[in-house]
Amino acid sequence: MAIREQVHSQTPWQYTEVPDMDDVLFQQWVELLELRTGIALPESRRTFLIMNLVSRMREVAIDNYQSYFDLIMNGSSGQVEWEILVDRLTVHETRFYRDEYSLDLIRNKYLPELTSTKAKPYTVHTWSVGCATGEEPYSLAMLLDFYFLNHPEFYYGVTASDVSRAALQTGRDAIYHQRRVKNVPEEIANNYFEKVDNEHVQVRPSLKQKVCFTQINLLGITQQPIGQMDIILCQNVLIYFKRELRNQILDQLAMCLKPGGILLLGAGEVFGWSHPELSQIDYQSTLAFQRHADNDEVKE
Ligand SMILES: C[S@@+](CC[C@H](N)C(=O)[O-])C[C@H]1O[C@@H](n2cnc3c(N)ncnc32)[C@H](O)[C@@H]1O
Repeated sequence: MAIREQVHSQTPWQYTEVPDMDDVLFQQWVELLELRTGIALPESRRTFLIMNLVSRMREVAIDNYQSYFDLIMNGSSGQVEWEILVDRLTVHETRFYRDEYSLDLIRNKYLPELTSTKAKPYTVHTWSVGCATGEEPYSLAMLLDFYFLNHPEFYYGVTASDVSRAALQTGRDAIYHQRRVKNVPEEIANNYFEKVDNEHVQVRPSLKQKVCFTQINLLGITQQPIGQMDIILCQNVLIYFKRELRNQILDQLAMCLKPGGILLLGAGEVFGWSHPELSQIDYQSTLAFQRHADNDEVKE
């Protein structure tokens, strides 16, 4: 059945037909998205795909899926168009202090151990993988910054990566609606945000400069010059991937950890994955793993 959609145009609001997408075409788009991003689009997301394609096709004045597909596949101009489309087809839902249990684990378990064992000065390298519009890496940066106020010889940096350039740009701008920061503990919010206007706040420049936003596709981690990390947050990203690919990426992330470093996933996001160099951390409602320290024996 054809989908009807209300679209805004030069004339007042009107209904226009959305072209049908047959199974062959749907499959073609599903395969392209999975090949380039790893995201598996189930049948239940067909309407989501169609709506986003049609909305973009209207912007570039193309009225059929195949012509738009051909445009995407066409060299460097296709690549530019793909960057725009991929932003529309990825879910960027996120929040400040979204996973409080994981942040508790870092603050109450990991950092006390780290600060009592590492030779000083020490720089903590961290990575927010699939950082969307910046709320996750800034939450991590705020936590670290606040914690290290009492540990002056500890320094930190946060790498924030995503496949979507548009999302990364929002992160770099670091301006958020007041509503979006309501989860942030008051003393943290007071320290790290400043008012822009009656509705918006921005991350203070001193904190902003600790977070480096960069485009990294999870499918290409092994080709990236990513250093060894103390903390990797990869939450609400791999749920969109098929199990085999998800496990491959987890194996690669595991190898990006320093000995003793931790990998935090979303609780309930991954089942049945383990790695010979990592042990699961038992901490409240978290799904977290720690790479064995150099002198640890590999546990069965
Ligand atoms: C739902 S958001 C999660 C944001 C944040 N991690 C959180 O938990 O709040 C998922 C993010 O993963 C990103 N993503 C999806 N596929 C990706 C890929 N292949 N490489 C890198 N990022 C990807 C999306 O662009 C999106 O911003």
